[in-house]
Amino acid sequence: MIVGPGDDAGVYLLSCGQAIVETVDIITPVVNDPFLFGSISTANSLSDIYAMGGKPLTALALVGFSSCDFEPDVIKKILKGAINTLNEAGVFLMGGHSFEDPELKFGLSVAGTLDRNRILRQKGSNPGDVLILTKPIGIGILTTALKAGKLSEDDIREAVECMLKLNDSAAGAALKSGATSATDVTGFGLLGHAYNMVRDSSVNFIISRKDVPVLPATREMIDEGMVPQGAYNNFRFVERKIEITGDLSEEERLLLSDPQTSGGLLITLPQSGLNEFRKSGVPFYIIGRVGKGTGKIIVRA
Ligand code: CO
Ligand code: CO
Repeated sequence: MIVGPGDDAGVYLLSCGQAIVETVDIITPVVNDPFLFGSISTANSLSDIYAMGGKPLTALALVGFSSCDFEPDVIKKILKGAINTLNEAGVFLMGGHSFEDPELKFGLSVAGTLDRNRILRQKGSNPGDVLILTKPIGIGILTTALKAGKLSEDDIREAVECMLKLNDSAAGAALKSGATSATDVTGFGLLGHAYNMVRDSSVNFIISRKDVPVLPATREMIDEGMVPQGAYNNFRFVERKIEITGDLSEEERLLLSDPQTSGGLLITLPQSGLNEFRKSGVPFYIIGRVGKGTGKIIVRA
């Protein structure tokens, strides 16, 4: 085992020099449409493989549902959505397992291959690197608003598009442009995942709040109180590990801690790699830079 628990996925080196990369993730519905939910959950499960620089090859489905509440038709649609996204990614569904659960859940265990010399770890950034993000944030807040009936699936179309988008080309661009580290932004929010990239290291990330891309309607929904509990928990966790310069409102703090489903990649790369990344055509936002430090996140309000 060359990468164990603690990174986005585990990596096991085979005797031929190739490595296998493995992960599992399972989520509750973030949208009402079962086909879409299956597709989104699949993109979310594949993401950790891409975040390591791997190529996903096979997957096993995990479905939890209550047999008295759910029509088999719903499960069929979820699986159809999943297979649709797996096809897009070139991944084979090998089987799976279902279990009784009062709350609907769907996810996948995914395995892939990896070049052992080109692993995108969470750590490895150098002072002077730029920090880029490939998808806007706000997904947790918008899906909370959807659940509460404040917004419709149509209103959050951009968020849905974001969640459906695979992180494959972003990972490819990261590898090509000489990325020094990468992770995917999911349940711990932007600040939580950024912190995982600097903790116990000799670098700091300096994040410019105004450069962080945010999905439309997110700020209105924060004002309406549509903040998931996870955002509060996440902020409480990182609070003492970050330094805020300037005035950062409670709303902005929660937004930067908003848990994402199938969020983008957070990547560090040398300034000289920016042009190569641009050539890939993958949308990205420069949200900060890496400096010498003591494993802290500094947020410029
Ligand atoms: Co991850
Ligand atoms: Co994960």
